[in-house]
Parts: sequence; C-alpha cells; structure tokens
Amino acid sequence: VSMGDRSTVWDPERYLQFERERSRPLRDLLERIDHPAATAIADLGCGPGNDTPLLRARWPAATIDAIDASPEMIERAKATNTDAAVTYGVRDVRAWAPSSAVDIVVSNALFQWVPAHRKAIVDASEFVRPGGYFAFQVPGNQGAPSHMAIKTLAADPEFSAELESVRTRDAFAPEVYADDFLRRQWEVEAWETTYVHVLRGADPIFDWLSGTGLRPYLQTLSADATPRFADRLKRALREAYPATKAGVTLLPFRRIFVVARRRS
Ligand SMILES: C[S@@+](CC[C@H](N)C(=O)[O-])C[C@H]1O[C@@H](n2cnc3c(N)ncnc32)[C@H](O)[C@@H]1O
Repeated sequence: VSMGDRSTVWDPERYLQFERERSRPLRDLLERIDHPAATAIADLGCGPGNDTPLLRARWPAATIDAIDASPEMIERAKATNTDAAVTYGVRDVRAWAPSSAVDIVVSNALFQWVPAHRKAIVDASEFVRPGGYFAFQVPGNQGAPSHMAIKTLAADPEFSAELESVRTRDAFAPEVYADDFLRRQWEVEAWETTYVHVLRGADPIFDWLSGTGLRPYLQTLSADATPRFADRLKRALREAYPATKAGVTLLPFRRIFVVARRRS
C-alpha cells in the first residue's frame, strides 16, 4: 500500500467531519479564477462531493465533470448531489482524458496523493482551452509536528516492519509549480497560506488525520498493532498540540495554491 493507490479506502463520513475547514481552501482558490463565462469545468479528486455546490454556486450553467479514484467517495457524492449537469466518475486522475477540452480544471487536496504529480498536473492541464484555468491546492504540511509525529512513530521498531511499505509524498514549493506553467507560457498566480484551524474534542488532531493522511498507516497495520499505534500517536499529538487556555486545540495548516491561465 502506498499513498494514492486505489487501495486506499476512504471513509466519507470521517472525512466530512471537518467539512468546513476542508472546503475553505477551495473557496479561496475559486476566488482567484476570473472566468464568468465558463461552460465546462472539471473537478479532479472531487472526494465525497463537497466541492460540487461551491462550483455550482460560482458557475450556475456549467457542466461539471467530477472524478475521483475512490468508489466510496464517488458513491457518497452521487448520493448527496442531485445536480443534473454534474457527472461523477471513478477514475484515476492520471487516466483522465475528457472528450473535449474544458474551461476550468479545479483540484482541491488531490495531487499530494498522486505519484509523480508534477507530471500529472502538466498532463491534465493540456485539456484546458486557451483562455481557461488550471487551479489547484495541495497541503504543504509535511514538516508539521503532526506529520513528524506519524513518521517518528512509524519508524519505531514496534511498528516499522509492518509500515515500511507506506510511502509519503511531499508537495513542492509554490514557485516550483509556478515555473512548470510559466515555462509553457501560461500566466500564473501562486501563493501559500497557513490556516489556523480551531478544533474541539479530546483528540481532535488524531480525528483530523484519521480522515486523510493517517489512513494508509491505519489500513496497513495489523488489528493487533492498530490500537497501540493509535494510543501512542494520540499521546504524541496531545503533547505537540496542547489544548489552549480557551479549551480548544489549534492546528496550523500550511497550504499551497496555484492558479494558472492558459493564454488565449
Ligand atoms: C483529501 S480528498 C479531497 C476531496 C475534495 N476535493 C475536497 O476538497 O474536500 C483527496 C481525494 O483524492 C482522491 N484521490 C487520491 N488519489 C487519486 C488519484 N490518483 N486519482 C484520482 N483521485 C485520487 C481520494 O480518493 C480523495 O477523495
């Protein structure tokens, strides 16, 4: 098992526990796309369908081609959205090839899961019409205490043999992605933001991670090792992110944004 493989099983309910926080970067991304006349949009890595209403609100008349590699996520998206101008498909982004070019491709929190994702981004951007946009966001939090805690524990002899096949992938700096577009003569706006999420509950960081980055680890561990791993990780996370005097837990979360426009 490695991150981004089809074998990663997603749990839409757990993922959507933090829907407001997870959708915020998409709102900020869409804000920078200036294309009121778009008629064809693609959403790559659409997840459980939480992106769809935001895209629809912005482009009421566009068709939306929404794909995700996870059957669980697509099933949930179909069950939640009745929008007739959206098609949901189970597909790997690396095999995405629309029958005609689109005005806008958006992708929120997908590409960090995809091997060789800079190439996947360039390949997918070839399906954007002149004058259209390719806009994506990826987390840039690989060095955050949360991920360091996971990596440290995974390297512990108690778990390392079971977890040696789990691969993590890093996002690149915004300027790396920007250059991938600029040298192909696209216009680019790229930036990064650190959100400070205010979380509540006994182990909110663990809960957050178990909807995303922790899944490949938890799915790979034996049933016997899982509770021990979870207990130790919860303890490490409580130390790294102590509750504040206000009784909440703050999760600083860095994210990287790229909005590229293909010249017309
Ligand atoms: C963190 S979720 C993002 C969901 C949604 N876009 C959002 O903004 O909340 C990442 C999604 O990427 C999907 N994914 C991972 N690897 C993929 C691939 N190679 N091709 C297509 N989708 C993939 C997962 O199934 C998951 O639904």
